[in-house]
Amino acid sequence: MTPSGSSSTPVRVAVLKGGRSLERQISLKSGARVQDALEHLGYDVVAIDVGHDLVERLRETAPDVAFVALHGRDGEDGTVQELLEAVGVPYTGSGVSACIRCADKVLAKHHMRDAGIPTPDFFAFNETAFKELGAADALPAIEQRLGFPIVVKPSNQGSALGIKLALEAKDVPGALVAAFSYGDKVLLERYVEGRDLAVSVLDVAGGGEPQVLPVVEAIPREDDRYEARYEIGRTEFVCPAELPADVTGRAQRLALDVWKMLGCRGFARIDLMLDPQDGELHVLEANAIPGLTDTSLLPQAADEAGIDFDALIGRIVELAL
Ligand SMILES: Nc1ncnc2c1ncn2[C@@H]1O[C@H](COP(=O)(O)OP(=O)(O)O)[C@@H](O)[C@H]1O
Ligand SMILES: [Mg+2]
Repeated sequence: MTPSGSSSTPVRVAVLKGGRSLERQISLKSGARVQDALEHLGYDVVAIDVGHDLVERLRETAPDVAFVALHGRDGEDGTVQELLEAVGVPYTGSGVSACIRCADKVLAKHHMRDAGIPTPDFFAFNETAFKELGAADALPAIEQRLGFPIVVKPSNQGSALGIKLALEAKDVPGALVAAFSYGDKVLLERYVEGRDLAVSVLDVAGGGEPQVLPVVEAIPREDDRYEARYEIGRTEFVCPAELPADVTGRAQRLALDVWKMLGCRGFARIDLMLDPQDGELHVLEANAIPGLTDTSLLPQAADEAGIDFDALIGRIVELAL
């Protein structure tokens, strides 16, 4: 299919990339790779490094559709999506409300817990709770319930930024301070000793049940998964993950449940942990705009399912149109 508009001029796609978030560098890589694919496919591509002139640039370039290749704050949390709604430009991926639910780990985890989807036990507070409501006095009770080690993380960050493992009570305050430096809400979460899995979901043209892609396992080469995960060469990805068929099936069903519950659209990646002791799966989070480079998890899973990078990007754009 040639990506041409009604007047047989090529469909114009604005690739939104960069932005102000801490994941700017990853977004620039995703954006460049997406641009490449769109050019191969014959689209008329304009790149926009997202900043104060975003609305102006959108009006000036008048794209038929925007490909949102942004990660983290603004791009993945519904802000840019809200602007695109306001300007009337269709865009790839999830809508505003799903982006808001995915970008806020605490909100997503509450939805999961309420829906009976397994997610590690947790407590979450904003900074005011510590400054004005003496939340620190509740730490011993929290530590007792979660048990050590405890994972401390900002609610609204990605790429493992600000995540710390507190091995004992004396590590908790420092981990909280570190996490609060990334955002106003922080969660303390039960640690799941196990395997890191990611399941991506992709919509199908014409509606109907989305396609759940093969499971990817991320295996840190060194024993510090929080730092290793995003450094080239320090994490090994295995796809399809070597798992018993029933575990694969459960992981894929859980991912689809999370996708539906959070109202995702287009594409998304759900991160889970597998506890090998009891075979239980625990959902950590949903990513509304996961990485889109050749070595990113969703493209790898799509490739394993017979959808190469260009086809993947083409499908995501067509879904948005
Ligand atoms: N509760 C947990 N138990 C064990 N490992 C965790 C836990 N939470 C996070 N991790 C590790 O940190 C990584 C990043 O955490 P995640 O919640 O997916 O945040 P993000 O990917 O947005 O930084 C996970 O893939 C996992 O390796
Ligand atoms: Mg994650």
